[in-house]
Amino acid sequence: MTYYLKPIGFLTLIFLLLIIYSCGEEQPKVAINNTTITNGYNEQHRPQFHFTPEANWMNDPNGMFYYEGKHHLFYQYFPDSTVWGPMHWGHAQSEDLVHWEHLPIGLYPDSIGCIFSGGAVVDNNNTSKLGTTEKPPIVATFTHHDFVGEKAKTNDFQKQSIAYSLDGGYKWTKYKDNPVIPNTEKIKDFRDPKVVWHEDSQKWILVLAAYDRVKFYSSPNLTDWEFLSDFAIKGDKRLWECPDLFPMKVEGANEKKWVLIVSIQKEAPNEGTATSYFVGEFDGKAFKCDIKNQKWLDWGTDNYAFVTWNNIPKDDGRILGIGWMSNWQYAQIVPTEKWRSAMTMTRELKLLNINGDYQIYSTPVKEFQKLRGKSTAFGQMDIKEEKVLQGSFVPSQAEFDFSVNLKKTTAATFGIKFKNDVGEYFVIKFNKKNGKMYVDRTKSNSNKFSEDFYKKIHSAPINFNQEELKIRLFMDAASAEIFIDDGAINFTSILFPSKKFDKISLLVEDGNLNLNESRIYPLNSIWNK
Ligand code: FRU
Repeated sequence: MTYYLKPIGFLTLIFLLLIIYSCGEEQPKVAINNTTITNGYNEQHRPQFHFTPEANWMNDPNGMFYYEGKHHLFYQYFPDSTVWGPMHWGHAQSEDLVHWEHLPIGLYPDSIGCIFSGGAVVDNNNTSKLGTTEKPPIVATFTHHDFVGEKAKTNDFQKQSIAYSLDGGYKWTKYKDNPVIPNTEKIKDFRDPKVVWHEDSQKWILVLAAYDRVKFYSSPNLTDWEFLSDFAIKGDKRLWECPDLFPMKVEGANEKKWVLIVSIQKEAPNEGTATSYFVGEFDGKAFKCDIKNQKWLDWGTDNYAFVTWNNIPKDDGRILGIGWMSNWQYAQIVPTEKWRSAMTMTRELKLLNINGDYQIYSTPVKEFQKLRGKSTAFGQMDIKEEKVLQGSFVPSQAEFDFSVNLKKTTAATFGIKFKNDVGEYFVIKFNKKNGKMYVDRTKSNSNKFSEDFYKKIHSAPINFNQEELKIRLFMDAASAEIFIDDGAINFTSILFPSKKFDKISLLVEDGNLNLNESRIYPLNSIWNK
């Protein structure tokens, strides 16, 4: 776990001590009632339409499920500091996947360890016998991480456990015979269990990350687990985390595929951590796909541990997920004072077959449209030099919907620039010649808090071989989420300008940029109801 502590030097020591002494014992149940936001949620860098905890440290989304009108979201949470520490599951819920209500902590560390990442399922048929079919148990699967064992180098300090709720997800009881999957092989990185129901075999399937691979288990009842198989890429020694497995219907076809999401700790396309996926087949025992075909769910630096919701009603039918909007390279030292980290916007995933190649498209859920204020529309534009866009919107809290007419655009390079009056800026550039998009946050704050954060301009591949390029962009106080061509390419990047960006302009070099009708919507804050 050294990677969590690397960037913080002196604090490292203090937290290591704290961790050793505080995990392995039941934590005092500090009642944090943060359902009422008292501070207006408008501190510097506070996202206005992304989920953030009111205070302290957050990482991965965990245990998401839908039940009786509420979408529940748990998350890796350390309630005592703004850096990572003994993990709890923080808790929030939403009726629309956009507005969130903070709830008291869901799971606390106990005598087996702290509570690392995992999932939750609604056991509608009461297969676990932990509830009744009228009031189905909700079963959370998570990793118990024992810091004492880690320090003693026992190597079996991560084990899989469960907890259940009989009141719809608010009060949780740890299962009496935890762990349900012990770490008999003594694998140091053995964590993040997530479960899905497999209709054909009438079994629950659990996936977890075991260093450089995913392990599959099955169970009839969520308590007795049998090992099935491993999935790995030959020669890949990267650290895998937070897997997720689910079936997806292929858009416009009568075909079903299985998707395996895996977060990768290092060597992501733009360095650091990122979420990837594989599309293949799952027969109830093993996952098979052309394993060279690993794809990135998001090309940006800041969408990690993305996982999906369980029990979305059939009449909704969407595959919905959320990611942690940060990167282990710098997550603990970003310049927010009261809290650390936000989640991405909730996204809907779709599976498309593009000439025999299966690809996930992801876009923000349509419910975000509720936040839109009156848009400023720009008719067709033909631009030969930088053009400032003005209207009734604040660039640092808005949705941008641009459509570039590629046939009528002669410039090889064009882009979008956000800036403030202290000389900081953020640029998204498109280069038709080399088929790429560039995202440049290197000058987004003059006070450089992390070398990794500022050192490089990031990039993603773009298809310019078409009539139009659709660019949808959501800017919040501390992030940009870019969705190209209906979600074919996602790019999420956090940024911390010392003053909010209040100007946006279109850029063009050596030629013209031709746009079809474009629109900019101001977005309301989710914290003012
Ligand atoms: C991913 C991760 C998980 C682990 C959790 C600990 O970001 O490293 O593998 O369970 O964070 O907080």
